[in-house]
Amino acid sequence: MEKTWTDLGHVDSLKDPPLREVTLGTAVIAVSYREGKFGAVSNFCNHAGGPLGSGKLDDDYIICPWHNWKFHRVTGFGEPGFEEDRVPQFELKIENDHLYVNINPITPRQKAPHPPHPLARPVKRENGPLRVVGISTTVMDAKNPRYSTSEKLLQVAVDHAKDLGAQTMFIRLNDLKFRACEGYYSKSAFACTWPCSITQMDETDQLTQVYEALIHWADVVIVSTPIRWGAASSLYHKMIERMNCVQNQITINNKALIQNKVASFIITGGQDNVQDVAGHLLGFFAELGFVFPPFPFIAHTMGWDAEDMERNISYVEKSDGLKSGARDLVKRSMDMAKIILQHVPEEKIVRPGRKAQHLTVDKEE
Ligand code: FES
Repeated sequence: MEKTWTDLGHVDSLKDPPLREVTLGTAVIAVSYREGKFGAVSNFCNHAGGPLGSGKLDDDYIICPWHNWKFHRVTGFGEPGFEEDRVPQFELKIENDHLYVNINPITPRQKAPHPPHPLARPVKRENGPLRVVGISTTVMDAKNPRYSTSEKLLQVAVDHAKDLGAQTMFIRLNDLKFRACEGYYSKSAFACTWPCSITQMDETDQLTQVYEALIHWADVVIVSTPIRWGAASSLYHKMIERMNCVQNQITINNKALIQNKVASFIITGGQDNVQDVAGHLLGFFAELGFVFPPFPFIAHTMGWDAEDMERNISYVEKSDGLKSGARDLVKRSMDMAKIILQHVPEEKIVRPGRKAQHLTVDKEE
């Protein structure tokens, strides 16, 4: 291919910082300098397009700032063991102390086959009875479990779903080892991937089963939480921060992973603030794409001026009203799921309210 040399500037001005992004028309190049030698490769990482020129150097390898893949700063090859992945290399020359780059790459991009994560499969409801998952978010010493009012009522609800003919699953977040969200979205909306970047990189992370249940398996999701200082539990928040990747698919790919699914909630606490916690839960699950049955939560507290934790457990344990409330909640949720499953729209939901600045769908429209 014809060489198109472009002057990048005086060599002394290009040594520090040792790695930079240079935009030349449509070409964006990661230019580096180390131990007397310049290098130039495509700025776009093979993984999810991260900006290599904004990464950092590890000897002669560029570490991508998004998820840490490495590419040789001169040849573009992946790090040892991953050489099948290669980003394009650009030719350089020095004349009159100026560095020139040929903006037509001299090697092509090569992508090694990376089998997709099982969660990345198309979302399609399998035939069969309604499926109900209960997710308990209370925190406790797993070796010496205590009585949890929220988890107890969730168990009542899930047991009743089974009695009503549903397939059921019960997930205690407390039993799962999973990492907190590490903020890939804060680097770029496009760095927050589906499946979650952590899930893809860390096989030991156990939030996979929550994603599997929410995205692929369940028709109805019931989440239970205690109230801790006026808010849902810390484990609940740890889980939903990891759900950013689900909502983010709407933003960056115009893709709603959650459709035709119902969510409802069980909230218990020693003091009040039920409506505030319920408002948060409703808002968050609505943003994911869930719909709600009439009266989508049940709750219990002793009230702000009746902080009586010694009696709280026995109150819930003996309360037929709360237990029948839990059963009615799951019944309403299943009824709603049946209604929406009978009326599945043929077309996908069109851009449900969000878009990223550089949404590729805009180019196609
Ligand atoms: S490692 Fe570069 S985009 Fe993911």
